[in-house]
Amino acid sequence: MTASLSPPRVLLLAVHFATKSDVQGLTALVAHHPNVLRPELILRVLLTCLPETLRSSEYVGLIERIESGDLYAEPDLSIQFDSSSVQDITDAEAAKKTRRLHLLPLAWVDAPEDALADPVSLFLIHRAHRVDQEAGLLTQLPDLIVPFLQHAPCIRTWMVSALLPLLRRNYEYYPHEPITQTLESFERLDSRTAVALLLSQTGVREEDLPHVGRDLRGLIGPWLHNDARWDKSMEKQSPTESDRSDRMACPAWEYVLEWLTTQAVVSWRVAVKAFDQWDGPNDVDLGEYGSGWLGDEEQGLLERRFARAALASAYSIPEASVEALSGVNNIITKIMTLLDQDPCPTLQVASSLLSPFTELDSERLISAKSASLMRNDLLEESNYLTTPNQTSTQLLHVLTLSAFILTKAGAPCSVRRAGELAFLRDEREQKATAVKLIHSLSTNGPKNDDKYWIRARNELLWLRDWGAEEAFGSSDIQTYGIFSRLKKDFLEVECLKAFLANTRYSLARSIYEDSPDKPLNESVLRDTTVAAAMEAYDNASNPHRGRGGLLKCDDIIHAFPKTLPEMHPAARRIEALLKATHALSEYRLVLKKGEPFTPVVLRVLTDPVSIIGKVLEQNPKGYTNIQDLLDIGSNMVDAGLLDSDTSKPSRINSTPPSDPHIATRKRITAMCVDAALTEDDFETAYSYVVNRVAVYADPQVTDEYSWKAALQAGKYRRTARTVKPTHIGTGSGNLDIRHLEQRIECLSTAVRIAPPATLQEILNVFRKCEEELNAAIKAEEAQESAWDDQGDVQAMPGAFSSTVPAGVVRNATRSSRHVEEAPMSLFDLSRASMARAQHNLSALSSLQRSGQSRASDVEGSLDDASGQPRVRKRDQLREAAVGTLASGVGWLIGAQPVDRSQERE
Ligand SMILES: *[C@@H]1O[C@H](CO)[C@@H](O)[C@H](O)[C@H]1NC(C)=O
Ligand SMILES: *[C@@H]1O[C@H](CO)[C@@H](O)[C@H](O)[C@H]1NC(C)=O
Ligand SMILES: *[C@@H]1O[C@H](CO)[C@@H](O)[C@H](O)[C@H]1NC(C)=O
Ligand SMILES: *[C@@H]1O[C@H](CO)[C@@H](O)[C@H](O)[C@H]1NC(C)=O
Ligand SMILES: *[C@@H]1O[C@H](CO)[C@@H](O)[C@H](O)[C@H]1NC(C)=O
Repeated sequence: MTASLSPPRVLLLAVHFATKSDVQGLTALVAHHPNVLRPELILRVLLTCLPETLRSSEYVGLIERIESGDLYAEPDLSIQFDSSSVQDITDAEAAKKTRRLHLLPLAWVDAPEDALADPVSLFLIHRAHRVDQEAGLLTQLPDLIVPFLQHAPCIRTWMVSALLPLLRRNYEYYPHEPITQTLESFERLDSRTAVALLLSQTGVREEDLPHVGRDLRGLIGPWLHNDARWDKSMEKQSPTESDRSDRMACPAWEYVLEWLTTQAVVSWRVAVKAFDQWDGPNDVDLGEYGSGWLGDEEQGLLERRFARAALASAYSIPEASVEALSGVNNIITKIMTLLDQDPCPTLQVASSLLSPFTELDSERLISAKSASLMRNDLLEESNYLTTPNQTSTQLLHVLTLSAFILTKAGAPCSVRRAGELAFLRDEREQKATAVKLIHSLSTNGPKNDDKYWIRARNELLWLRDWGAEEAFGSSDIQTYGIFSRLKKDFLEVECLKAFLANTRYSLARSIYEDSPDKPLNESVLRDTTVAAAMEAYDNASNPHRGRGGLLKCDDIIHAFPKTLPEMHPAARRIEALLKATHALSEYRLVLKKGEPFTPVVLRVLTDPVSIIGKVLEQNPKGYTNIQDLLDIGSNMVDAGLLDSDTSKPSRINSTPPSDPHIATRKRITAMCVDAALTEDDFETAYSYVVNRVAVYADPQVTDEYSWKAALQAGKYRRTARTVKPTHIGTGSGNLDIRHLEQRIECLSTAVRIAPPATLQEILNVFRKCEEELNAAIKAEEAQESAWDDQGDVQAMPGAFSSTVPAGVVRNATRSSRHVEEAPMSLFDLSRASMARAQHNLSALSSLQRSGQSRASDVEGSLDDASGQPRVRKRDQLREAAVGTLASGVGWLIGAQPVDRSQERE
């Protein structure tokens, strides 16, 4: 019966078996009809009709028997098959049907050339495409392909470079994020896209970071194992061997390197892991399907390019963190190992060694060109920064170490940034970075650890010259560090400031004052110290000198006893400032808007003495501490707080510039007088006027405060609120009279020290006051005569006890007599004096007395025992006032007072 089957019917039967997945029937059919079902035809039937869902193991045996030929050479004819399906078809019908079978050709578009003559290879790959495409059963394919790895090189190549990467990518490594391409379209992808897809999940999630190397080894490694990845076209054009290796290229590899350098920019951890976990072109995992295949030359090319990409990646990592920089250093170490160099130390170790960078080629390296090469053409052969050799790795290491020192101190810096600082040598940028670094060292470091600060200084100085000065033993060399344009002095000064700001006084002394090679000369050290002290002062919030900023300021000026001894003017100035400030801490003192007083205010105020005014406003009875306040003023002067004032032109040009001590004392006294009056303490105001204002007064040097204070006191009128006197000296027992006398005394002081233009005003007050006094005396006399009429005044002391303190004895007779004797009003006298003075000074001679002696007379009379006759006192007052006027006017017209002895003539 079998012999009776015509070839078309055999073919139809084969199609039938294949469609039904009856591999056994099919095998028997081929055995019986080997001449009809030639290998190519039966493979086409299988390709076209065998369901793609059929497990590979079901039919791989058949393929093996076709491939080996034993199906034809040793057919097993004992196995029968069922030909009933073609029984009822005539041969003619069968022939017609076969023409409509449309069996697929084994080859497909883009089938590899070397497989075109090999039906089995064509079948296997074509079948694999269809199983993937129609059934999506990529995992079935190893079972189909592996038995044929020895069949032809193209099968192994295909297995390793196409099926294996896709299988691993989609089923083993990232089953949840598969590539959607079919196997066939994956093979057709251009290299760039293929690399991108294969690595699209690599390192994407944190938990994938440990697998970056695996992906490169297991996906890229196999995928590259295909001659199609190489561009050998150039090779053909190239006549000589030496040219050849230069022109040989592996574009696919370039895409891998591009991927790596891109990762460095967008996801630096992935790049670091890649170079950490993967050793490059030789580090491949082909599974059990093969082993290395690169020739030495190709291997060398890929490795050189790999090393360049590693250096390029290192420069591209933008992250400025200790972790990223350590990653960069790991990349460098990797490349050094690859280049058989001695590996560089870790950054931690390197930063304590601070070895010199003694690259002889540095002049060429340290250039603007290098700065540009860090950004552009990183993978170009012409880029000397990424040419893997000793020069480039050393340079990269020293840049990374520089960035690391900045970053770990809290002033983040990337490798590229360090490169820019070193290559462009921009002084401003370098300075800004150095200042930032020192600031971070101060803010972030352990404040009390001297070791930390010693190390910080060493690092700072190393960054300037990368250790060259130490290596060459000379400071006279071109420096190449990231602070190369900064003066060593500048860094030392900044260091010193940081030491002082962090209270490292003895460390500072040991380095800058006691060490034999003093890093800073004396004047620089002193200026820096003074500036640091002032900075601490200005930063202080508490005016107490035992606390915070003031304590620091105090400590700093004592930190260098040889350079800044206590007697040094700068030290004394600061001491005075501290004293003044500290004294203010004893008072309540709030500035506007409720801000409490901070020391710096004293230094920024254009008029620091005005602070005393605030003290007086805010501290009731503060004026009674006049000596304390005067001391503060004096310290303000010694501290130089008023120094800028002396340059101002004086209000009255003809007067010499006033001694700031005296001027301040006068002003503060005047403030106290005003404050006392404000608090209705006339007695104190009066005592300040006569004991202080009058005493300090120097008619040659008018000031705007003293006379006004004296005038204010002279204008004061007693009220019920006025503080009662605690004792009464020789003054009038009548409090009104006493008060008026005191006022007149104040006014006479005012007359003496006021500028001429103001005299009229003062004299108006004077006259009124005098009139009141006369009226008061008259009233008193009237009352006395009334008392006399009533009887013995001595018998009624109680009449006065309410207003007159005990011990004061009235002598009515005396005061009456005095009034009678008063020849003319003090004011009239004064006015007359004035008029005469303008014509002939000597006419005034009877009134002349020097201001100084007058003042002491007034004071003396006040303190005199009660025995002094009252007349004398009135005379004195008059003389004082008029004499003042005369000398005041005399001074006005430029004449000298005449000696008193002349007047008697
Ligand atoms: C490293 O390569 C650069 C660029 O080709 C070259 O200028 C430099 O001299 C090389 N350095 C060493 C140590 O060979
Ligand atoms: C100290 O050094 C500064 C700056 O280096 C310099 O200007 C100054 O003249 C030096 N002073 C002395 C006394 O050497
Ligand atoms: C300024 O004061 C603050 C706190 O008051 C302190 O933390 C800082 O270190 C001070 N700076 C200097 C330079 O003394
Ligand atoms: C009053 O004055 C007269 C004359 O000046 C004097 O003799 C007399 O002792 C005085 N009386 C008293 C109590 O001081
Ligand atoms: C001023 O008075 C004196 C005598 O006291 C006289 O000698 C002199 O000439 C007078 N001068 C004028 C300018 O009147």
